[in-house]
Amino acid sequence: MSLAYLKKLSQTYIWKRIFYERLSEPIHLNIIALFVSLFGSYRTKIDFDLVIRPQHAYSLLSVADQAKALGYDRVSIFEFGVAAGSGLINLQEIAKKITKSTGIHFDIYGFDTGAGMPPPQSYKDHPEIYQAGDFPMVFEKLSRLLDDNTKLVLGPIAESMKAFLEKDFSKAPIGFVSIDVDYYSSTVDALKLLTHSANNMLPQVMIYLDDLEYPSHNSWCGEQAAVHEFTEEHPMRPIEKHPFLRSYRIFKNARWIDHMYQCHVLDHAVRNQLTPSRSNIVLSNPYL
Ligand SMILES: C[S@@+](CC[C@H](N)C(=O)[O-])C[C@H]1O[C@@H](n2cnc3c(N)ncnc32)[C@H](O)[C@@H]1O
Repeated sequence: MSLAYLKKLSQTYIWKRIFYERLSEPIHLNIIALFVSLFGSYRTKIDFDLVIRPQHAYSLLSVADQAKALGYDRVSIFEFGVAAGSGLINLQEIAKKITKSTGIHFDIYGFDTGAGMPPPQSYKDHPEIYQAGDFPMVFEKLSRLLDDNTKLVLGPIAESMKAFLEKDFSKAPIGFVSIDVDYYSSTVDALKLLTHSANNMLPQVMIYLDDLEYPSHNSWCGEQAAVHEFTEEHPMRPIEKHPFLRSYRIFKNARWIDHMYQCHVLDHAVRNQLTPSRSNIVLSNPYL
């Protein structure tokens, strides 16, 4: 068990989550999970939500599987909103383990002002919850923990994004985007990444939206409003929740499932092959 895991277990909110999310699940699954935590492969641990920030683990594994099937050996993943850096370092650790088990490498980019939240621009930014200066970064401490594959991009996202829209990601396509910037206005800026040309993206980009679950969050403000507007403005890049993800998961009460979205890159070459590219599928019939 890692030091980060032990530190997490010293916080009351973690026990509350364990109580609501895990002790409300069938006992036999929790017993199996105990064995998986001791003897399971990393992939099985991800299936049993035994990795810290299961949303990252699930997304990176899905992205690696997608990339491998398409013949890539690298993908690019993004965290918008880094703050003290727990999310970015967690992504780094998970990426290393998934590289070991799949052979797919990750280029990781973390975007942040470096100085905490900018001023809110309207009610849509939820000023009743967040304010300018919240979540500052201790750059010195954080930058020591980053490796060669992880880049911190400092400054307002609206500014930094310009260079990224010019950048060539065709050898390491955009595969996962975590949005943890709290505001509607900052999410609008972050989502611009998903307007990149289709050959710079995987056909399905996994998206984690963090700021959805407080009682005052709603579809007309914050991250959700930005996502709905993006989909209206970009009909070839709709973003929607994975509607069957819960039914594919072993632990169905896990809250992270409701934070998972996908951007469907409808103009991707893979989604536009109109001539046969493989031998035909033949269904068997158990009645014959
Ligand atoms: C809640 S914190 C992120 C927490 C982090 N993801 C974690 O897991 O620990 C939100 C961060 O978003 C950043 N942010 C919000 N709007 C931004 C913008 N327009 N440009 C750059 N950074 C922004 C803030 O500086 C703040 O550090």
